Amino acid sequence: MPRVLSGIQPTGDLHLGNLLGAVLNWVQDQQQADSLYCIVDMHALTVPKQPGEIGERTLELAQGLLACGLDPEQCTLFVQSHVPEHTELGWIIQCVTSMGELRRMTQFKDKSEQQEFISAGLFTYPALQAADILLYDTDKVPVGEDQRQHIELTRDVAERFNKRFGETFVIPQASIPRIGARVMDLQNPTNKMSKSSDGGAGTVYLSDDLAAIAKKFSRAVTDSDSEVRFDVAEKPGVSNLLSILSALTQRTPEETAAEYTQYGPLKKDTAEAVVELLRPIQTRMAELKADPNATLALLSVGAEKAGSIASAVVERAKNNIGLLPRR
Ligand code: AMP
Ligand code: TRP
Repeated sequence: MPRVLSGIQPTGDLHLGNLLGAVLNWVQDQQQADSLYCIVDMHALTVPKQPGEIGERTLELAQGLLACGLDPEQCTLFVQSHVPEHTELGWIIQCVTSMGELRRMTQFKDKSEQQEFISAGLFTYPALQAADILLYDTDKVPVGEDQRQHIELTRDVAERFNKRFGETFVIPQASIPRIGARVMDLQNPTNKMSKSSDGGAGTVYLSDDLAAIAKKFSRAVTDSDSEVRFDVAEKPGVSNLLSILSALTQRTPEETAAEYTQYGPLKKDTAEAVVELLRPIQTRMAELKADPNATLALLSVGAEKAGSIASAVVERAKNNIGLLPRR
């Protein structure tokens, strides 16, 4: 069975972009692959946080992922900081990654522009991400389009390490969905939908009241002509709605576009499809929140399983480098 690994940061609430770009594919993959999903709390440290904040958000994200359908019987769900091998291999990977490579990362450029205090960790973040992936002999990394560059870097660094120190790491491949890989903000459809965009009118959260979701779609920015056509460059707002509805109905955006002549019905049907997706997820989420200990116990089992794979791979890397073994 192929090995799959992906990660998500415990910052902000899960939103529709996370679901269509990543999480719903994770739910599918868990049946066909040996899958590990990691809540990357160490990555969340790269931008300043209040004391206590990350832990709370980590638990909430775990509950959100379980509510979306991750099944601990079928996959390994765990928290990055519970498996210390991530930071250990992260350091080793930093030492085979160049400053030039890190400087080219667009996520760093975007995120550092929003920060007053730019941590060194924000800069070296992709090396820790590479370690997350390489620690599990991962074949496939299901992510949204925005992560393509980080997976390419992971491949380059793994190949470099293997050349320098001998076959150590499996070279992973990104797996990016054909439709839904880049869900855009409903108010600013040239920006991707994200947890941090202000106000929240353009972001559909998993936890949004269902009536509020319908409103967000009815107010979604389209454009002044009224032709329903899939054309991302000329009609970003309409194309975003078509992509969302298509991802949820297993059609291509062109096929969906052919069924509409007006924006109103397109918005209404997209909102309905999203509401039907989220309704059962919200019910399950409420059940999980009522019993936090159950989730904590699952995460502990997950860390145990992940740690046993990770420690073997770190040992392999250290041996191949030729660090002095401890007696
Ligand atoms: P993040 O929320 O940045 O930790 O991302 C978690 C996962 O969701 C990653 O695989 C991202 O590629 C994916 N993702 C985040 N935002 C979007 C979006 N607007 N559209 C599609 N995928 C997204
Ligand atoms: N950088 C990813 C993001 O911002 C999160 C992430 C961290 C990740 N480690 C990973 C994704 C490993 C896939 C595999 O979304």
